[in-house]
Amino acid sequence: MDSSSFSKAIVTLAILVMLSMGSSNAQLSIDFYSKSCPHLLSTVKPVVQSAINKEARMGASILRLFFHDCFVNGCDGSLLLDDTSSFTGEKNAAPNKNSARGFEVIDNIKSAVEKACPGVVSCADILAIAARDSTVILGGPEWDVKLGRRDARTASQAAANNSIPRPTSNLNQLISRFNALGLSTRDMVALSGSHTIGQARCTNFRARIYNETTIDSSLAQTRRSNCPRTSGSGDNNLAPLDLQTPTRFENNYYKNLINRRGLLHSDQQLFNGGSTDSIVSTYSSNENTFRSDFVAGMIKMGDIRPLTGSRGEIRNNCRRIN
Ligand code: HEM
Ligand SMILES: *[C@@H]1O[C@H](CO)[C@@H](O)[C@H](O)[C@H]1NC(C)=O
Ligand SMILES: *[C@@H]1O[C@H](CO)[C@@H](O)[C@H](O)[C@H]1NC(C)=O
Repeated sequence: MDSSSFSKAIVTLAILVMLSMGSSNAQLSIDFYSKSCPHLLSTVKPVVQSAINKEARMGASILRLFFHDCFVNGCDGSLLLDDTSSFTGEKNAAPNKNSARGFEVIDNIKSAVEKACPGVVSCADILAIAARDSTVILGGPEWDVKLGRRDARTASQAAANNSIPRPTSNLNQLISRFNALGLSTRDMVALSGSHTIGQARCTNFRARIYNETTIDSSLAQTRRSNCPRTSGSGDNNLAPLDLQTPTRFENNYYKNLINRRGLLHSDQQLFNGGSTDSIVSTYSSNENTFRSDFVAGMIKMGDIRPLTGSRGEIRNNCRRIN
């Protein structure tokens, strides 16, 4: 190689390196802890498994924690911070209060991981791994989790109030919330398939079962028995998001939507004569397409604005900044 093509090669290399650093998730990789914490994955999974053995719903609760973390200023563990007298975090924001749960399981995982590799693994990454493990344990698809996120030293109740989609949303609002974070309409429909597991509170589906016409009447009837019409009574009573199999991760959610059996207003919006009907139909009849689109969506969601390099910190305790 002569000296001019050598310098061209160096310039090209430098540009490639700069481009890769410019992308926000450049440093997330599946082998991020392979040297610093080689047994990380085998340390996390049994803790998730034992929590789910105790209560199958916990898998759903943990998956949702990851969503609520990533949608608020990125996947940075901000959701895990406790409120104190001088600090207001995200746990009491509208979408999380009396609702987000599973924090003790994350603490248990963190303790196990700290024992194995002190001071190395972020709470944000622990949440990403635990969400994947929960999905797999309940029968969902497996994927390699990209790692290397660091933990926020801040949190935002206002951002949590504003960024997490509401169950009263219409289709356009759902689409634009996801699009704003780089997630496509198809990602939105696939990720909503998480509602094939877990529970919702009466306060979040009351209007739907008493006032909407787009709901199967026998489902409405059934749900009214444990969700009183009057706001303020029975608000926290639970019902399964997927009426048949709330602890099995499959595509029943989409089959329900086609039968007007979505529990939340936002669920039924995905199959209500609009642009996403065809995606719902595809997922309801082709479980493998759903599974692979769900994986793609989870990986994209996990890439939202991570803190990398020297930003943020590796928290010692997921509930407080160091
Ligand atoms: C598309 C917009 C979404 C809306 C409006 C929404 C809304 C909700 C609501 C209102 C609940 C019930 C909470 C309660 O009553 O306490 C819920 C539960 C749940 N959500 Fe979503 N969600 C959405 C998307 C997602 C996504 C993207 C995921 C995960 C990737 C997810 C995972 C879950 C899970 C697993 C539960 C059950 C949690 C449990 O049983 O503890 N949701 N969601
Ligand atoms: C977030 O919403 C809750 C419940 O509606 C409200 O009490 C709180 O003041 C809101 N926080 C911010 C910072 O807007
Ligand atoms: C149903 O709609 C009526 C009329 O808009 C409203 O007054 C009532 O509060 C709604 N009920 C529920 C349970 O949302």
